[in-house]
Amino acid sequence: MQAGKNKIIIANWKMNPLTSKEAEKLFQHIIKSVSLVKRTAIVICPPSLYLAKLRKFSRKILLGAQDAFWGEGGPFTGEISGEMVYNIGGRYVILGHSERRAGGETNGEVNKKIKASLTAGLRPILCVGETMRDANHSYFNSVKNQLAECLDGVKKDLIHKVVIAYEPVWAISSTPNRHDATPADSLEMTIFIRKIISDKFGAEASKIRIVYGGSVSEKDAGDFFKNGGVDGLLAGKASLDAKKFIEIIKICEASSR
Ligand code: 13P
Repeated sequence: MQAGKNKIIIANWKMNPLTSKEAEKLFQHIIKSVSLVKRTAIVICPPSLYLAKLRKFSRKILLGAQDAFWGEGGPFTGEISGEMVYNIGGRYVILGHSERRAGGETNGEVNKKIKASLTAGLRPILCVGETMRDANHSYFNSVKNQLAECLDGVKKDLIHKVVIAYEPVWAISSTPNRHDATPADSLEMTIFIRKIISDKFGAEASKIRIVYGGSVSEKDAGDFFKNGGVDGLLAGKASLDAKKFIEIIKICEASSR
């Protein structure tokens, strides 16, 4: 990790929990344990309709959306713009998540969303990652294409706001027949990602945080920090369990000492 960059722990609650009461309970539980956290940025991305409520409870925990549309406003039924997310208190936005890509979202669309989110003042968390690994290592090319196309035209002076999340789809908890990615898998890919972004953005690229996501748990978080080459973690399932999520935050905090 580069000096001067706080590590980051991000929660992607996905389409959970089912009621705003449960969302509040989970959030409050996490708040209680983060008062001593000094070196870790904590970002929680709930379903967007809970943002307005949750923003009232903590300034320390930053909030994010799980997607934001590129249009500034107008005839886009069902969409929420980056500006709306910002205005309701969101500061981050997950973009290009594999679950959205599986529904047809393209790199071109993610690119438009990244640029619009940056204009709105949000920090995009760009998800990249291959669906499977192959003996020819062509998965490197798919990650390279995702980065090239999603970050095309992003201004150098804004690139430090982008977080890149390496999420191999084959390691995500909900993927059928999934298996664990190792810190070595993460290290190899983070080195590759750093090379691509530094070729594209020069010295500014060193300010970009790269995180790992895919069945992150309190059991392997320490190993990812030690051996995975990451500036943070993006947790899905584990982030819905307050105890596990708090433990991951504490492990991150300890790793920054
Ligand atoms: P899991 O931690 O449940 O595998 O989810 C990872 C993820 O998709 C986070 O964005």
